[in-house]
Amino acid sequence: MAALPVIKHPNLLVGYETADDAGVYKLTNEMAIVQTLDFFTPIVNDPYHFGRIAAANSLSDVYAMGGRPLTAMNIVCFPSKDLPKEVLKEILRGGLEKIHEAGALLVGGHSVDDRELKYGLSVTGIVHPDRIITNGGAKVGDRLILTKPIGMGVIAKAIKGKMASKGAVNNLIEVASTLNKKASEIMLKYGCHACTDVTGFGIGGHLLEVARASKVEIAIYVDKVPLLPGAKKYALTGLIPAGSYAIKHFCEKSIEIDRRIETILIDLVFDPQTSGGLVISLDTDVADACLKELKYEGIKSARIIGDILSPHPKGRLKITYSNSK
Ligand code: CO
Ligand code: CO
Ligand code: CO
Repeated sequence: MAALPVIKHPNLLVGYETADDAGVYKLTNEMAIVQTLDFFTPIVNDPYHFGRIAAANSLSDVYAMGGRPLTAMNIVCFPSKDLPKEVLKEILRGGLEKIHEAGALLVGGHSVDDRELKYGLSVTGIVHPDRIITNGGAKVGDRLILTKPIGMGVIAKAIKGKMASKGAVNNLIEVASTLNKKASEIMLKYGCHACTDVTGFGIGGHLLEVARASKVEIAIYVDKVPLLPGAKKYALTGLIPAGSYAIKHFCEKSIEIDRRIETILIDLVFDPQTSGGLVISLDTDVADACLKELKYEGIKSARIIGDILSPHPKGRLKITYSNSK
């Protein structure tokens, strides 16, 4: 949308000119609406779990901005000549389960016939206008917490190639269908400065967005980034999504990579995620307490994975080891 003219309006608090997860429009001094839309092709074969993952992913953009989802609408592209109606029913059942878990309501939707199956949600939430979390608020000295392991793109590729083990598939389903609701509530308690959810650009691409929007240099420590079980193994057999290379190439001018790091870990840093975790930027003196609470609340994979190093006018990402600060 970079080619579209930027429209300014006093009530438009977050528009499409930023790389934020959702748009925010102020209704009153106490309330703003958060709006987002996401849909994609299946990453797992089971339609019910695909529905749950796609819905969790769509709801996540509201959580990343510190909002609370209120209503959702289904968006469906369905190959009605190739697939039985039962498949669609299962997808929508999975999606509805997640909408309800989020405390939101399904209010409608729209479907079209398409050769390729796609599903997702348009979600509307609310947030206090003074408490919107964007990706532009990271401060020098902040620590970065990631709440879910990465490697979803690699596992999804292994599934497509019929090479994924049952355990790897189940882990992916478990992680990708987990709502970022609790993580979002906890980050707000600790006064986080910035947040984004990790999706199509991988942890590397999304951190670079934070770096650019916050005008800082960020360090990510590859040895601290949690990986899904099997992700490294499959990546080593060449199951790297094409998107990973494309994203890395796209970011190239703004990243610095420690030469000691094995290529496979770099590929994983740029592995596109589906319904990934939140990456949370917050004061160093509350980072450990926040991490502890995340883990206590069941978000076991949460880790401190990086730091905000210094101001940087254009934004920069350093991919390194934790011991080479
Ligand atoms: Co997002
Ligand atoms: Co999105
Ligand atoms: Co319609």
